[in-house]
Amino acid sequence: MTRGRSSHPSAPDTARTFPTRQPEDPPLVFGNVPPRDPNFTGRDELLDQLTERLSSGATAVLHGLGGIGKTQMATEYIYRHLRDYDLVWWIDAAHTTQIRAGLTELAGLLGLQGASEANIAVPAVIEALRTGRPFRRWLLVFDAAESPETVLPFFPRNGPGEIMITSRNSGWTGVARRLEPAVLNRDDRSVEEPKTRKPAARQIPHTCAFFSPEPISRDLLTGVSRSSNLAWRFRGLFAPRSESPGKHHFGKPSRAGLSGRPREKAAMAAVGGSRHHLIMVADVAGFGEPSRTGPDQRAVREGLYDVMKTAFAATETAWEDCHRGDRGDGILVLVPSGVDKAAFIQAVLPMLVTRLRVHNDTCAKEQQIHLRVALHAGEVGYDPHGFTSSSLTLAFRLCDAPPLKEALAMSPGVLAVIASESLFGEVVRHTPGAAPATWRQVPVKVKEIDTTGWVTLPDHPYVGHP
Ligand SMILES: Nc1ncnc2c1ncn2[C@@H]1O[C@H](COP(=O)(O)OP(=O)(O)O)[C@@H](O)[C@H]1O
Ligand SMILES: [Mg+2]
Repeated sequence: MTRGRSSHPSAPDTARTFPTRQPEDPPLVFGNVPPRDPNFTGRDELLDQLTERLSSGATAVLHGLGGIGKTQMATEYIYRHLRDYDLVWWIDAAHTTQIRAGLTELAGLLGLQGASEANIAVPAVIEALRTGRPFRRWLLVFDAAESPETVLPFFPRNGPGEIMITSRNSGWTGVARRLEPAVLNRDDRSVEEPKTRKPAARQIPHTCAFFSPEPISRDLLTGVSRSSNLAWRFRGLFAPRSESPGKHHFGKPSRAGLSGRPREKAAMAAVGGSRHHLIMVADVAGFGEPSRTGPDQRAVREGLYDVMKTAFAATETAWEDCHRGDRGDGILVLVPSGVDKAAFIQAVLPMLVTRLRVHNDTCAKEQQIHLRVALHAGEVGYDPHGFTSSSLTLAFRLCDAPPLKEALAMSPGVLAVIASESLFGEVVRHTPGAAPATWRQVPVKVKEIDTTGWVTLPDHPYVGHP
């Protein structure tokens, strides 16, 4: 192990002084790290390799497809190694502007001169890290890095600390060796033999085969068991384990808003105007059925939010960055304008199936969820009270379309999806990963709307047209 020895400022050229840290204390500076996932499971070998690589001074890249578990692994690593670092700083690295904002925020927390201006703060903070002042034992995480070129300029080169990267890009040769969270290809023989006998896990290969040439994470496929939950064993080792989602700063003032993902949400509500969104309406079938008691309904709502949130996480579209409207038995979600619609749709539908099935397998019948989802894209207007548009109205009507309800009622599956005529024509039809041949055109006559839409059953697909 070649970690730095001192946890004290060796040459305090920052305006801020830091308290002496006891060995059991969490890092003195800790920012923007996602909350620990209580359902984290497995990955022991890879976490060991990661530890080895970082402690030897090498930069580590977690590489793999979206949703495979890179961010989760990086997060879990941090919570298992809080004692090893005085500073842990998480940077959303998809865009250079985010990297610069993250480093500027760090400069502010370190009290560096000129910290309020990115042009001065960014080089200053890189230099402070490189020279190990005030901390030698630091860890920087560049999450969702596009490419080496976008993050390399921000590395405190040859500094005493450690750098971890997560990326879907495979081109890191010469920068760092890659660690690959395990994936399961659809033609991997073990797809047919999930470790668990749960019907949910058995259904998943079917869904994968339907949707994608893409591999799917082994952990998702073989079922996530709460009893084997490693995070649980580590629970309580470190006191400040906040239950609330979002940013965590230990012992430091929070500067939420200065860094992190662009908060399109807050910005749009403030300025008004309108924007083009992918609109998603999800509605629980039979929510109000008399067999569901009040506690059942609450469990269904909680399950629905959990399903949506975790499915979104796997698409790399942050749930927190979406406008959301609660509808009692459903949710309206506006996916941020910049998101690739085709990539999102082909990723989110199988993930919804997976998550719904896991939910349904672990709760009473009255709390199970069969979901209708409507997808449309269009302009949405904002005002201080919320948002509205004819596109939203169409999405709601699609979700209430009788052919969609019938399709779900007749299906042994858990999910029925309808796309608007325009979204199907412009996006789904051209997205092989969304299996366009398995969508069927249906009439949509609801209230003032008289149109057509396209229905698919992701976990019980119609036979595709050739
Ligand atoms: N080791 C794991 N244990 C349990 N769930 C996991 C694990 N890894 C990933 N997941 C699930 O998969 C989702 C996507 O993982 P994430 O780390 O965000 O993927 P990536 O960063 O590779 O796109 C997570 O939100 C989580 O629900
Ligand atoms: Mg990620």
